[in-house]
Amino acid sequence: MARAQKMFECSACGAQSPKWLGRCPDCGGWSTLIETLGRAGGSGGKDPGRAATRSPQPLAAVLAERVERVSTSIGELDRVLGGGLVPGAVVLIGGDPGIGKSTLLLQAVLGMARAGQAVLYVSGEESAAQVALRARRLGGGEQASLLATTELADVQAALATERYAAVVIDSIQTMRAAELEASPGSVAQLREVAARLTELAKQREIALLLIGHVTKDGTLAGPKVLEHLVDVVLAFEGDGSHAYRLLRGQKNRFGPTHEIGVFEMANEGLREVADASATFIAERPDRAAGSVVVPTAEGSRPMLVEVQALVAPAQYGAARRVATGLDPNRLAVLLAVLQRKAGIQVLDYDVFASVAGGLRVDEPAVDLALCAAIVSALRERPLLPNVLAFGEVGLTGELRAVPRAALRVAEAKKLGFTRIVLPQGNAEALTKAERAGIELSPMSRLADALHALF
Ligand code: TYD
Ligand code: MG
Repeated sequence: MARAQKMFECSACGAQSPKWLGRCPDCGGWSTLIETLGRAGGSGGKDPGRAATRSPQPLAAVLAERVERVSTSIGELDRVLGGGLVPGAVVLIGGDPGIGKSTLLLQAVLGMARAGQAVLYVSGEESAAQVALRARRLGGGEQASLLATTELADVQAALATERYAAVVIDSIQTMRAAELEASPGSVAQLREVAARLTELAKQREIALLLIGHVTKDGTLAGPKVLEHLVDVVLAFEGDGSHAYRLLRGQKNRFGPTHEIGVFEMANEGLREVADASATFIAERPDRAAGSVVVPTAEGSRPMLVEVQALVAPAQYGAARRVATGLDPNRLAVLLAVLQRKAGIQVLDYDVFASVAGGLRVDEPAVDLALCAAIVSALRERPLLPNVLAFGEVGLTGELRAVPRAALRVAEAKKLGFTRIVLPQGNAEALTKAERAGIELSPMSRLADALHALF
């Protein structure tokens, strides 16, 4: 490969300059130039792995090369990945500090080692002794290799000498390419380190798992740079004060996105939560106003969760709206729809809404349940028992069909619910077998659906 040579590149337009400039001469952006390793005669390191020219092949020939996925030994993680790790794939796992990223991937590495795979855990944050101590607590996997370093060169050397099935980098922000003066964690370093590791992973068909820290606003540190580079982006999330953790697929070149894995942080590490629905509605108050169960289905896994609302007359000035685990903008929209399209006077009330258990739900299918929880809280009237609701609410007060209705209905039946209020469009598409065993109340307007729920 051509010798690396230091360059500065605009992170906005890609213009290059041999020296650092405060303002990009091409696009005029301020402070957009970052240090990078250009390659002599190359395109500034954009596509470094490219060597021989390639020619087209028939699709059938490509299909015949079956990809053998490697199990991470953790079922929930495998499912979110789309059935395990693909050799050569680069996976980025982001999450708040302390949420359990190191624990999850160390458990995966140990499990894979026990299954006879050659695996490496690179720690730039903790010493080898610390990692080993944690590994012992997590149940061992002595065959796994450890490397405590922050130098990219050490990792490159390790990957060149041994053929690993999977390698974990904990974390990408701690690694540095010695040739760059930029400090570890800077955009320049992140880009360079991630690009070089990705190149190696592809060449040597290693599944590479990168741990990334998340900034306060919830985005992966290193402005989108990494997300474009990697094949899979997973977010590990949860509320620090609760034990439940959700692993959420955000991008996946090798499988479905939006898959969800559920874990519980315990003393002996992360435990997979097989029956998430029963767990999440277990503490549901009996016949309490402001509580509604909704069957969510982000990804292929249906999950019953409890949406709660508390409504109180606003005291001073503007009413407060607080959403925890739900989209605050969505809450504002639904309150306006309730007020204008369903005749429910909510504007002068403080409204607090949340998903029980510290979960976050991110799909419009919860709209109806959220509206119902607000109305239930406002009127101090609990819902009829064993009823649940799902459906998207439109701006004209209509109830819109959502994906995967059959999965949601099946999950509701399984958990013993007897009646479900759902969009007309969804009810019509259910087969006879899917409708059996539960009473359906199909509705096409929010107002009617609310009426049916109380
Ligand atoms: P960690 O995996 O270090 O988080 P991250 O890498 O995302 O920063 O996990 C940190 C928390 O998990 C820590 O507060 C302790 C807790 N924990 C347990 O409760 N049980 C365990 O077995 C382990 C290993 C950690
Ligand atoms: Mg960690």
